[in-house]
Order: sequence, then C-alpha cells, then structure tokens
Amino acid sequence: MTYKSIVVTKRGGLDALQIIDNELRDPLVGEVRIRILATPVCQDDIAVRVGNRPFLAKVPFVPGYSILGVVNAIGEGVTNVVTGDFVAALTNFGGHAEYIFLAEDQLVKVPSNLDPAEAVVLILNFLVAYQILHQVAGVKPGDRVLIIGASGGVGTAFLQLGKLASLKMYGLASASKRSTLTQLDAIPIDYHTQDFVEVIQQSEPDGIDFVFNGMGDDYFERGLAVLRRGGAFVHYGGPESFLRFLLLAGKLILYNLLPNGKSIKGYGTHRGATSSFKRDWGILFKLLEDGKIKPIIAEKFPILEAAKGYALLESGQVIGNVVLVTPELL
Ligand SMILES: NC(=O)c1ccc[n+]([C@@H]2O[C@H](COP(=O)([O-])OP(=O)(O)OC[C@H]3O[C@@H](n4cnc5c(N)ncnc54)[C@H](OP(=O)(O)O)[C@@H]3O)[C@@H](O)[C@H]2O)c1
Repeated sequence: MTYKSIVVTKRGGLDALQIIDNELRDPLVGEVRIRILATPVCQDDIAVRVGNRPFLAKVPFVPGYSILGVVNAIGEGVTNVVTGDFVAALTNFGGHAEYIFLAEDQLVKVPSNLDPAEAVVLILNFLVAYQILHQVAGVKPGDRVLIIGASGGVGTAFLQLGKLASLKMYGLASASKRSTLTQLDAIPIDYHTQDFVEVIQQSEPDGIDFVFNGMGDDYFERGLAVLRRGGAFVHYGGPESFLRFLLLAGKLILYNLLPNGKSIKGYGTHRGATSSFKRDWGILFKLLEDGKIKPIIAEKFPILEAAKGYALLESGQVIGNVVLVTPELL
C-alpha cells in the first residue's frame, strides 16, 4: 500500500510542489503511524518553501507544522496510545500528507468529540498566543495590549484568549477585517491609513502594558513608544534571513539595555519544551470543549490540494486559519 504527501522539490513558488507516493510501511520501534485528519497551513510552511528563514531544511521536504489524526498502527514498545486514538503533534515538517510516522512522546491525546479542523489550530496558533499571554507576559484582567497582525491565525487566537482574560485590546488590521476585531471586543486600527502610535498615545496617555508582534522587527521602535514604563514588547515573528536574525538579536540586546524601564522579549516554539506544550494543549482542548474559544476557519481544502491553501494564505486575504483536511471532513 502507498500514501501520498506534498513535497517541496525546490525553493520557490507553488510550482515547487509535487505530490508523491510513499510506501505505507509498518511503524518502527517506539513509533506511531497516524492517518492525518487535519493539518493547518501556516506562514512558516510558506517561508521555508520560498527560502525566507535563516535556517532552512534541505529540499526535498514535506511541509506541515502541526497535525491531528487517528492512530493507525503502533510500533513495538509503544504504550501510551492505541489504534483508534485521536492524537495531535507539533511536527514542524511532514504534516501535509495522508500519513505521518511520529515518536509516541511527541503526541498529545485529543478528546474525540472535538472538530479536528478546529482542534488542530490549537497546536500552533493558539499555543503561541496562550503561552505569550500567560507565561511570557503574565497578563492580568484590565491590562491594555496591542496585537500586531490581529486578523491572522495567531492574531485571532490572541483576540479570543485576550477576551477571555478580560484584556483591553487594540489590534492592527486591514479595514476589510475590522469587524472580526470588533466582534472580539478589540479596538481596530487600520495601520494602512492610521498612525497607531498617535491613536494609542491619545487614548492611553500613560502607555499600555504589552505589545505582541508577529511581524518584522521594524515594529520595535513604534511598539516601544506606546508602552508604559515597566511594559513589555513580545516578539514572535520569524526572521527572514540570517542577516535579519543577527539584526534581531542585536536589537533585542540593545533595546533591553536602554534605561527606559521597557523590555523586549522573544518567543518561539522551537525553544519551548514539549512538556509545557502538552500542559497548555490540555488547557486549550478544555476551553474548546467548553465553548470558550472557537478557532476561526476561513477555508478548508483537501490535504492533497494544499497548493490552494498556500495560495490563499499567501494572498493576505485570510481572516483566521486555513486548514487542510481529509475529504470526509470537508
Ligand atoms: N515564533 C513562533 O513560534 C511562531 C509561531 C507561529 C507563527 N509565528 C509567526 O507569526 C507571524 C504571524 O503568523 P500568522 O499565522 O498569524 O500569519 P497570518 O495568519 O498569515 O496573518 C498575518 C496577518 O498579518 C497582517 N499583516 C501583514 N503584514 C502586516 C504588517 N506589515 N503589519 C501589520 N499586519 C500585517 C495581515 O492581515 P491584515 O490584512 O489585517 O494586515 C495578515 O493576514 C508569522 O511571522 C509567523 O511566522 C511564529
């Protein structure tokens, strides 16, 4: 038997993609074979294909940063999951395929009553927003925050979790995405036509508590300008090249040396521990089960039509998330 996966064969555009057949082998010792039900498309899937990251996987590779699926076979020595369990994982690569083979310690069990397309969005985008809010920033009710990139996958996760945490939220978004922000009780600022520093300084003359930035480091200066003394700017955007990575590191050090009482912190899942992810995924699954959060799914595509999902995310028109699913979930 075989299964299909999406392969990036060279750096570049959508023409770099191919669908290939792989042998559906038995799992190795300690390994779990998973039939993938849902796998989102994220900015890093695109950046690694195009070549916009300082450290790049060699081609050919299968993109796909996170997955949710059903255990289809287990290797010798696997004790924590059985065939038929619903599981998810942060994979970084390999998710845009019909099947994936993962070590059992990478997996988190997922309540089977959750919608796979919604639950899989918790594995990266909601995890990032949750950990930044509650571990890096340590927000408390009433804190005033600015979310840069508020209409995207991570941004809308910040809005839902920020609303739950009773934050006063400002969000940068294009005018066409304004209503999503207002529905989630955020104050939208159209950064194309408005100077957000002016807007925030007018309504918050003492400054705000936190800025969350998934875009470039060119937001550092303006973000710091709207913070109060003691406030923090949290950056989680991926640098586009090795040079930008060095510049980013230099800026982080430099701005933290300035005697202005403001700090810049960095966050990246590649630096996090799987144990802390598993703890927070458990919290997020419960919030989804209880109806306290509901990931926004802009569009679903069949896994093997991943190129359509990449094209849509690359268009910049998406509000929320694009998720690839098995045909029965469409
Ligand atoms: N460090 C980590 O572990 C980690 C994990 C996940 C994601 N990320 C990073 O987080 C960033 C956002 O990811 P995402 O999945 O939320 O992306 P996304 O879903 O594509 O959303 C990004 C949104 O940002 C807005 N935007 C684009 N350029 C902007 C600019 N110059 N200023 C302000 N807003 C801008 C666009 O909406 P508008 O039309 O409203 O402007 C766009 O839809 C990416 O850089 C990604 O690499 C990092």
